[in-house]
Amino acid sequence: MKIKSADFVMSNSNVAKCPNEPLPEYAFIGRSNVGKSSLINMLTERKGLAKTSGRPGKTQLINHFKINDNWFLVDLPGYGYAKVSKKDKNTFQKYIRHYFLEREQLVCSFVLIDIRHEPQKIDMEFMQWLGENQIPFGIIFTKADKLKPKAIERQVKHYITALLEDMWETAPPHFVTSSSKKMGREEVLGYIEQINGSFFGAKDA
Ligand code: GTP
Ligand code: MG
Repeated sequence: MKIKSADFVMSNSNVAKCPNEPLPEYAFIGRSNVGKSSLINMLTERKGLAKTSGRPGKTQLINHFKINDNWFLVDLPGYGYAKVSKKDKNTFQKYIRHYFLEREQLVCSFVLIDIRHEPQKIDMEFMQWLGENQIPFGIIFTKADKLKPKAIERQVKHYITALLEDMWETAPPHFVTSSSKKMGREEVLGYIEQINGSFFGAKDA
């Protein structure tokens, strides 16, 4: 898919105040520092569109980016950031939970996983929660530039096996990416394009 335009629309912490156009949207979620904002910049080929940082906890709000004037990418704060106070953590969890449960435009979310890491409880629990609430999601492995091809393959296999053992009958769609090497871009955009197609197709019918 060609990205002709990518525009920041708004940031907020209230799902009721998110853009109210009936356009499909895709949200990126995952641990702090996993590379959510970097991935948005890589996919859109706009370097500073989403704010990134080497320090975890950079993204604090729900950020909407309008793509090609007819769908949205959503950058969310990360979970599992130890330095956030308990009160902030609760507030955060509440509005993120509301976002996932109430946002009708959300057609698919992507859980980002650092490809170097062993399966972590917090990610597994989050995916379980998405599943229980029937929120469709895919997995995007990030930072693949940090591993050699054989190790990438091994890590993905290991992760998917853990998911299948843990709770899932079938593996969710998954993608291997690197924002610094621009890897996986076509695959992720192709998947989004496919979902957009059925969204708009179904509406026309
Ligand atoms: P929060 O907003 O804090 O939750 O983080 P985030 O998930 O949005 O991560 P962000 O995109 O800000 O990236 C965090 C750090 O990881 C930055 O230092 C990025 O440069 C680095 N990073 C992101 N993607 C990649 C990647 O594909 N490869 C490598 N090597 N580094 C990456
Ligand atoms: Mg971020």
